[in-house]
Amino acid sequence: MSEHTGTQASYWIETAPGLPRPALTEDIGVDVAVIGAGMAGLSTAWEVAQSGRSVAVLEAGCLAGGVTGHTTAKLTALHSLVHQRLRRTRGPEGARLYGHSQMDALRRAAALVDELGIDCDWEDAAAYTYTLDHDRVPEVRAEAEAAREAGLAAEFVTDTQLPFPVAGAVRAAGQVQFHPRKYLLALADELTRRGGQLYEGTRVVGLHEGEPCRLTTEAGYTVTARDVVVATHYPVFDRAMLFTRLAPRREVVLTAPIDAGRDPHGMYITPDENTRSLRTAPYRDGTRLLIVTGEHFTPGTSDSGDHFSRLADWATEHFGPLDFTYRWATQDNDSTDTVPLVGPLHPGSRHTYVATGFGGWGLSGGIMAGLLLSALIDGRKPPWTHLYDPRRLGSVVREAPAFLRHQAKVAQHFVGDRLTPLAGGGRSVDDIAAGDGAVIRVGAHLCAVSRDQAGRVHALSARCTHLGCLVAFNRAEQAWECPCHGSRFDLDGRVLQGPATRPLERRDL
Ligand SMILES: Cc1cc2nc3c(=O)[nH]c(=O)nc-3n(C[C@H](O)[C@H](O)[C@H](O)COP(=O)(O)OP(=O)(O)OC[C@H]3O[C@@H](n4cnc5c(N)ncnc54)[C@H](O)[C@@H]3O)c2cc1C
Ligand code: FES
Repeated sequence: MSEHTGTQASYWIETAPGLPRPALTEDIGVDVAVIGAGMAGLSTAWEVAQSGRSVAVLEAGCLAGGVTGHTTAKLTALHSLVHQRLRRTRGPEGARLYGHSQMDALRRAAALVDELGIDCDWEDAAAYTYTLDHDRVPEVRAEAEAAREAGLAAEFVTDTQLPFPVAGAVRAAGQVQFHPRKYLLALADELTRRGGQLYEGTRVVGLHEGEPCRLTTEAGYTVTARDVVVATHYPVFDRAMLFTRLAPRREVVLTAPIDAGRDPHGMYITPDENTRSLRTAPYRDGTRLLIVTGEHFTPGTSDSGDHFSRLADWATEHFGPLDFTYRWATQDNDSTDTVPLVGPLHPGSRHTYVATGFGGWGLSGGIMAGLLLSALIDGRKPPWTHLYDPRRLGSVVREAPAFLRHQAKVAQHFVGDRLTPLAGGGRSVDDIAAGDGAVIRVGAHLCAVSRDQAGRVHALSARCTHLGCLVAFNRAEQAWECPCHGSRFDLDGRVLQGPATRPLERRDL
């Protein structure tokens, strides 16, 4: 696939641009301040406002412009093979609470779409987790059983409407696909009408916990709030070192129109083939937009270009010639025990909360987080409070293998990358072509040097401002990425994605 196939932008953002909202330009006080306006932040703000509290949402970029604006947008409680895994690690009750809480989130979104008349391409659809591998069928069967026990209308099937045979699949009826940005922008408009304050272009850089809590923005304004929710995807204020329990996973997404006759009628995912996920959405002139996702990798370890090519080849192999219209990439964080971290920010928290670690399922997960966090702020405890509690007991034992694997990788990047002669292969600035970048040694410093398409050289410190790992260049996305916890920076070092909050320092060559 040519690197220039399709527009490099998210279909969801391009087709629902929304109106810009103001940045915060004064000190304010509210009952609850929410940092981050993705699915988790906006859902929380909505629920908190419904309980009569005043709320402000502070968003560094634009509403639903983060991971939520770049997802595949399946709203489902069938999360690949999660229920059978939870049944093993958290027992049948853990799997049941997970399924019920996620179905509860779906029902909540359906009720809001109905009540507010939200036009967001809402379509009921079945969700499938399939495998091509006969050895994996028992796992898929176990998921069908565990998901059914957990309250989903799930069954094991061998027939799907995919254009290729599968060895087996779980089919869950009564799930949903939608346009996440249309949904959230409508919710945000209604929230504003009901008195909620929503600010874009407002990065929060400081959190002082107390009674009340105080937030400081990059522009120097203060938000005073009784309760604070950190919904920044990767938590930017991380007093419980949650970053040790979160591993970032980046994936690529492609879209192409197809005739309605080729629509596989459902939302599909497989853990095979380095993950393949697909669905369709309503498109122009009666056609459907095929949306395919997959090819996951750790940011900072691979160039998205190769992954786009492989995914495009896979899609054309199965759906015939395709004219790709949009392509983008995004990443989510896997928690070491598969369950999102939603609840108090750290063991001593009284008024600070977090929602993170959605593991690729943060649309239902974000809505669930909104319901759970607003209940906790109200002093209520839904039955799944303990399941999602970031302080959960016993998790050290359960998570140990995944935790150690993740830490080993981080250590390898933290120490190993410094010992390797040079990530850039000993290149000099002159060797860097337009559109390329590399880490090179300049005197005593390791510099992240890139050359933009106009030939201008950009030189930055190669040490990530989060905890100092070495960043690597992703050519297809023209971004510096950190392999340790997934921070991303543009060519001028500005933060594209946390946990880093500070830009890469500029270097003089
Ligand atoms: C390829 C891919 C496909 C996916 N498909 C699905 C799917 O089909 N179904 C599903 O359920 N899930 C899916 N997911 C997962 C889901 O999209 C995410 O879990 C979810 O969108 C995360 O929402 P969020 O609100 O936590 O994060 P975001 O949407 O990223 O929101 C966080 C916001 O915080 C802001 N922010 C960060 N730092 C600051 C700061 N210091 N101050 C102020 N604001 C800040 C950011 O700008 C951002 O807007 C997918 C994930 C990937 C990677
Ligand atoms: S993201 Fe943690 S060190 Fe870079």
